[in-house]
Amino acid sequence: MVSAPRRVLDVGCGEGWLARQLLARDVAVVGVDAVPALIARAAQNAAGDARRAGEFHVLDYLELANRQFTCEPCDAAVCNFSLLGKESVEAVLGVLPRHLTGRGRLVIQTLHPRTACGDAPYVEGWRDGSWLGCGPGFKDPAPWYFRTLDGWQRMLSRCGFDLQETRAPTLPGSSEPVSVLFVCEAREVTI
Ligand SMILES: C[S@@+](CC[C@H](N)C(=O)[O-])C[C@H]1O[C@@H](n2cnc3c(N)ncnc32)[C@H](O)[C@@H]1O
Repeated sequence: MVSAPRRVLDVGCGEGWLARQLLARDVAVVGVDAVPALIARAAQNAAGDARRAGEFHVLDYLELANRQFTCEPCDAAVCNFSLLGKESVEAVLGVLPRHLTGRGRLVIQTLHPRTACGDAPYVEGWRDGSWLGCGPGFKDPAPWYFRTLDGWQRMLSRCGFDLQETRAPTLPGSSEPVSVLFVCEAREVTI
């Protein structure tokens, strides 16, 4: 990132751990998520310090994309393992430049296509979900939409973002990427 953001839109914020990390660094946060219980938890956990500027909204990506939501523009948006669908993901990414100031930043972290592909063909499509390794409390995994690296890059461009950097972190002693991060800059919105 060229400079530290002062205000961040956390898309699919879940229970808000990332929002709390940002708030602790005096970054204002707008968190959105479709699950009311997660948003309630995020708001409750962020409420400890009144000086900190956190706001949280129950919102589906399609509602956000249909412009049923307005907020003060943010310097950056972040999607941490929160882009799981097909049309809903493209719809929300397509509207994000309007919620960003100027050439605001977008940071996405998601499963790395190379490792997430498994034994299936390396082509885009819906895949069955899995809670493997998560314990007995996790049930009914939702399907998710697999995108290739090229697929992500093409979608980001269609949605109004210039990809600046792609990172693929690995664990010590391994060459397998555990995730992929896309760092993008929004193209100027003209209308
Ligand atoms: C794996 S969790 C990640 C949560 C959080 N970003 C984190 O780092 O812990 C995915 C989150 O994305 C949210 N999400 C997925 N699809 C969504 C949609 N279409 N609209 C709103 N939220 C969505 C889920 O409710 C869930 O909280």
